[in-house]
Amino acid sequence: MRLSEQPLFSEETIQARVRELAAEISLDYAGKPLVLVSVLKGAAVFASDLLRSLVIPAELEFLRAKSYAGTQSAGTILLHHVPGEELKNKDVLLIEDILDTGETIAAVLEKLRAHKPVSLAVCVLLDKPHRRAADISARYTGFRLNPRTSSDELFVVGYGLDYDEAYRGLRAIYTLHETR
Ligand code: IMP
Ligand code: MG
Repeated sequence: MRLSEQPLFSEETIQARVRELAAEISLDYAGKPLVLVSVLKGAAVFASDLLRSLVIPAELEFLRAKSYAGTQSAGTILLHHVPGEELKNKDVLLIEDILDTGETIAAVLEKLRAHKPVSLAVCVLLDKPHRRAADISARYTGFRLNPRTSSDELFVVGYGLDYDEAYRGLRAIYTLHETR
């Protein structure tokens, strides 16, 4: 596998979009007891930038979801360290890196809902709407990814996103290609 030479989204583009999302969230949740629940590991970078761009107070929780091996879905989603009492009477915003089939977010939302938050909404950095299997949509979306053709499936890395645990530390987002 090799990285694209040019980023799909540059560091500047990402940071500008994160500030826009944070401004929107700050307006929508002003005066509310907001908790960001970040999905580990992919969304950790996005969540920490988002939190620092908010102009309202917010708490931060993490949970671990694991569903992928390489670029293929493993089909099952394992959830660990799901917050409970921390969400009671709070407005919860789930922070995820990519909304792909939606199976991960569907599983996480079901777990979080059981803890009776006042409200529960989703914020994703990237959305692949053409890949959706579960009936999930995000209230806040950073960028939408649409393939030019159906065989032109995009796999992206960087800014927290990995391919087999590599590339999370890149400050921009790149596409990954098969080497032949
Ligand atoms: P879903 O359950 O199919 O929506 O899968 C979402 C998860 O798949 C994300 O949290 C990512 O970890 C992973 N994923 C999906 N597409 C990509 C990608 O292009 N790059 C890196 N990870 C991805
Ligand atoms: Mg992930």
